[in-house]
Amino acid sequence: MLRVEDAQVPVEFSPELIAKFDDVVSRYPEGKQKSGLLPILHFVQAEFGWLSVPAMDKVAAYLKILPIEVYEVASFYTMYFLRPQGKYVLEVCRTSGCCLVGAEKIMDHIEQKLGVKEGEVTPDGLFSWRGVECLAACGFGPVLQIGPEYTFYENLTNESVDKLIGELTAKAKN
Ligand code: FES
Repeated sequence: MLRVEDAQVPVEFSPELIAKFDDVVSRYPEGKQKSGLLPILHFVQAEFGWLSVPAMDKVAAYLKILPIEVYEVASFYTMYFLRPQGKYVLEVCRTSGCCLVGAEKIMDHIEQKLGVKEGEVTPDGLFSWRGVECLAACGFGPVLQIGPEYTFYENLTNESVDKLIGELTAKAKN
């Protein structure tokens, strides 16, 4: 659930993050810095976990474009999160190919296992999950991916999902 206070928290971009922006922008001709918007939003999301309005406003200021130009892009592409997410976002393919081999049961299992509905975050902040459209691994369904590296997990079963969640939980605590 998006909380107003989450949406309003000011953000600071570190010098390291700004250096990544500069590197992206340097690849485009003078005056075409807006072309770097997509990778810059990915960098911001990797840093903060999601794209808050203050973060998007700061990106707009950096690129010298209007905030609405950033909002339009961020709200168009589903890979950008406009609300807080868990550290790990399990994105399960819910397109017909995967549904035919049990994707809906996998999503039901994830909901039960994590105790949160689609789009919600577990109380420990570690997980959220959602259904997404075809992940282009249709012969290996059910499939899920986890960003920001977008690692794929294929031929899912309840047992392999439990194992994955256990491993990610252990990794987060180390
Ligand atoms: Fe699931 Fe294509 S239908 S990956």
